[in-house]
Amino acid sequence: MNNTELKAIFDQQAAHYDEQWNKTAPIRDGLLFLLEAVFANLPADAHILSIGTGTGEELAYLARRFPSWRFTAVEPSGEMLNVCRAKATREGFITRCEFHEGYLDSLVTDTKFAGAICLLVSQFILDPTARSAFFQQIADKLQPDGILASSDLSAEIGTDHFEALLRLWQRVVAPANISSEGLARMRAAYSKDVAVIAPAAVADIIAAAGFEPPVVFYQAGLIHAWMTRIATNAAR
Ligand SMILES: C[S@@+](CC[C@H](N)C(=O)[O-])C[C@H]1O[C@@H](n2cnc3c(N)ncnc32)[C@H](O)[C@@H]1O
Repeated sequence: MNNTELKAIFDQQAAHYDEQWNKTAPIRDGLLFLLEAVFANLPADAHILSIGTGTGEELAYLARRFPSWRFTAVEPSGEMLNVCRAKATREGFITRCEFHEGYLDSLVTDTKFAGAICLLVSQFILDPTARSAFFQQIADKLQPDGILASSDLSAEIGTDHFEALLRLWQRVVAPANISSEGLARMRAAYSKDVAVIAPAAVADIIAAAGFEPPVVFYQAGLIHAWMTRIATNAAR
């Protein structure tokens, strides 16, 4: 899937995105609960970069818990960003937000961010070199001790481990559509449209962009989340 196709899909899903994923809210909530701890030592005036913000669930969660933090949201889908803006207005944190409709490479800012969040985004970059370049762009926007939290669907396709998790995942995300054909479609999508690769391979991609070896701080089904910081010896 290229960027235009991906943007069209998220534009089309935006209005019902939160409702659609409400069924897996416990998974998201668990991740956000731990994310709060990952970022707990950042200063009271931290500025956070959110890449692939979507409808802004992670922004809303952090904004509630850290009332002086500011956020820069990068999101190519204008419709997803509109839902995020409306949420920020409703929840009263819009004055702490800047919104960039587009990709990271067109974000113009002098800010060096204390932390970056990138939840369920890098999995859409199929080429490993481009995926590492994406994390390099994030690293370039962070302070020298900046923290990254990133999550993706991850597993080693072709293994029994993956097949077991995939069957579980189907029951979680598509319970109304349990069939072997449905499972085959999901398996095909995860090897073609979404770069579902082994957790160690994702960690290597992130580390290659100038981060310390990432640590998995959360796993639920196929979702894995890594935390890391800029490598102390990173040349920048
Ligand atoms: C699965 S959604 C996740 C949204 C949100 N982070 C969450 O966890 O609810 C992925 C989002 O990333 C955006 N996206 C896809 N590719 C991107 C890229 N290369 N850079 C920034 N955002 C991207 C999509 O438009 C979409 O809103």
